[in-house]
Amino acid sequence: MSTLDRKTVWVNEVIDKIIAKMDWVSDKSHNKIPYTTIDGEHDDRSAHNPTHSVDDGICWWTNGFWGGMMWQLYHATGNPKYKDIAEKSELKLDACFQEFDGLHHDVGFMWLPTSVANYKLTQNADSRRRAMHAANLLAGRYNPAGEFIRAWNDIEGEDTRGWAIIDCMLNIPLLYWAAEETGDPRYCHIAMKHANTTMNAFIRHDGSVNHIVEFDPLVGGVLQTYGGQGYGEGSSWTRGQSWALYGFVMSYNWTKKEEYLHTAKRVAHYFIANIPENGIIPVDFRQPVEPALEDSTAAAIAACGLIEIAKVVGSYEKGLYLDAAMKLLQVLDRSRTDWTASCDCILQNGSAAYHAKSHHQSIIYGDYFFMEAIFKLKGTDLYIW
Ligand code: GLY
Repeated sequence: MSTLDRKTVWVNEVIDKIIAKMDWVSDKSHNKIPYTTIDGEHDDRSAHNPTHSVDDGICWWTNGFWGGMMWQLYHATGNPKYKDIAEKSELKLDACFQEFDGLHHDVGFMWLPTSVANYKLTQNADSRRRAMHAANLLAGRYNPAGEFIRAWNDIEGEDTRGWAIIDCMLNIPLLYWAAEETGDPRYCHIAMKHANTTMNAFIRHDGSVNHIVEFDPLVGGVLQTYGGQGYGEGSSWTRGQSWALYGFVMSYNWTKKEEYLHTAKRVAHYFIANIPENGIIPVDFRQPVEPALEDSTAAAIAACGLIEIAKVVGSYEKGLYLDAAMKLLQVLDRSRTDWTASCDCILQNGSAAYHAKSHHQSIIYGDYFFMEAIFKLKGTDLYIW
């Protein structure tokens, strides 16, 4: 069998495993919006309770991924049960618009895989309204002095008016979408201003990336950088590298601005050069050797971005990016997936942050991006970002 045939067989096998597992998982968790698993069972972040902290309630930033998984599965299989579950989870997110204080820049992560996906597949007018509302909230977080989108609201009295984070590169596709959908270029201007600021202030010369940059919110200019969810100041949080890699190639796809593709490639080269021999991605490329903390989600997100880069570069270059994506995904499939009934999630060993209390857990966006990457390899993914 040729290498190409072996890859096709492998992709088809993984898709069969995904569909077989998600068939029963979706029946079991149809009323939930999961984030992680507790003793193998999905938890549920869908409760609408304004007294909840933003971390455990309906405004939690990951609450779009479950709906996104359902839309990907609906797109791949045509099974209407996935559409029903996705629609139910999208409706629950409406509570966030009332609970406005809980909302943040992650409205892209929440409404691109839910409302925009729904609108693309069904032309549902309510979904379009929700997505436009979310896009307006994101645009409203733009600070013209520093030309950045503010990430979070003040955290326990900490002044975060000047904070932007690399993750936002995957929120701004909501603005590109809104610009295309309405013909109003303001959304695109804001997205590009933010992407330009990110290129200059977050991406280091070697292709590694800062997680948090604090700008002066009154006059602009960088005040400070923070290690954020990585090991520390000056380190290299792997999921942040992945958000940058995937986010910049998507900004290129929307705008065709070459600098965005060059930036995505620079981050990709740094990422590829740092993949350990065993293919297991650590939480931070600059963390100490021990403890050997890992983050499978960073690998899955990077794989999605690498596949997108491979699609837009010349034929001489494609192999570099596709081979790296295949290596990451095959290692995940071989050693960091659970296809059994003992866990509601597929991907194991995700880590939210280096300094988190616990590590090596299932996290819903790990499953989402693993699934998206595999569907991308097959050519049947629903284009979300
Ligand atoms: N967007 C937050 C994270 O990646 O954990």
